[in-house]
Amino acid sequence: TTNELLLAIETSCDETAVSVVRGGREIVSNVIASQIQTHEQFGGVVPEIASRKHVESITLVMEQALSEAGVTFRDLSAIAVTQGPGLVGALLVGIVAAKSLAMALELPLIATHHIAGHIYANRLVHEIEYPSVALVVSGGHTELVELEREGSFRIIGQTRDDAVGEAYDKVARALQFPYPGGPHIDRLAMEALGEIELPRAWLEPDSYDFSFSGLKSAVLAVINQTRMKGGELDKGALARGFQTSVIHVLVEKAIRAVRELGAKQLLLCGGVAANKGLRAALTARCQAEGISLLVPPLSLCTDNAAMIGAAAHLKWKSGEFTSLEMKAEPGLSL
Ligand code: KG4
Ligand code: ZN
Repeated sequence: TTNELLLAIETSCDETAVSVVRGGREIVSNVIASQIQTHEQFGGVVPEIASRKHVESITLVMEQALSEAGVTFRDLSAIAVTQGPGLVGALLVGIVAAKSLAMALELPLIATHHIAGHIYANRLVHEIEYPSVALVVSGGHTELVELEREGSFRIIGQTRDDAVGEAYDKVARALQFPYPGGPHIDRLAMEALGEIELPRAWLEPDSYDFSFSGLKSAVLAVINQTRMKGGELDKGALARGFQTSVIHVLVEKAIRAVRELGAKQLLLCGGVAANKGLRAALTARCQAEGISLLVPPLSLCTDNAAMIGAAAHLKWKSGEFTSLEMKAEPGLSL
């Protein structure tokens, strides 16, 4: 193992994040400037505005990350940055900053995959054993990934339509909650007394894929029907029905993947890993089945740059550096 000091940058969506990570494990500093308040009024992330906000914040966030870490540019071993997937204009801001630093400081540049970051957020707090399975649930992604060994990724299942966080945000919007709506639905569901039964999309019996758009439509249909009849909508019961359906499918498919692939662990990651219902259901189920479940703390579930430093560490170890010609890849595959 090495004790390198990485400066990691993440700007793929609506958080400008910079972190200093030592040896791929120790978070020396982790600074996040969130744009949520800016995008909230539009009901979602506006790409143009996201890019501009990143430009405004990136230097300040970087300076703060260095000063909180108590290090200078001279102490750094390499610069790591998210290459994709994400919004192209947003990614570009982090990439230009990373390239400039790498060039000026004559340091290696490490290109990182955003989802590899979410998965390896677990490495900042846990010991990962292989083979394992990762359930990645975020605003842009819903994937089951087989990790055969360190640094290898094989997507065995993914969403065929909406990402799970996206479905949460759309349902929340229909219930008049501000963006991002996931946490509001989670809270409503946990507090609800009743529950409206909604469908589950299992797809083919052997498939690890997901589909959430039918469920989302079912929620919208309940809202419309209630409105037409002039009745009172039980938002809590609806949120609970939605959440129960989502969790049921996620948990069953993840557990089946662990069993069928003989995985030693299940890693939960991505912004939706903050969901209380999902964490509770997976924890209970894994306990009953004797499966070891790894979940990062809430602050490392949503977008941050420490996770990018953790994933970049693997490339540092193998000397996998990228050239200054590297480009943003909005659809980068894992
Ligand atoms: O990983 P992330 O920060 O950004 C992406 O890479 O997409 O995930 C953000 C997503 C949003 O859709 C947000 O609504 C969802 O995570 N989210 C939640 C919860 N907290 C955040 N969804 C359900 N329950 C939560 N408690
Ligand atoms: Zn993310």
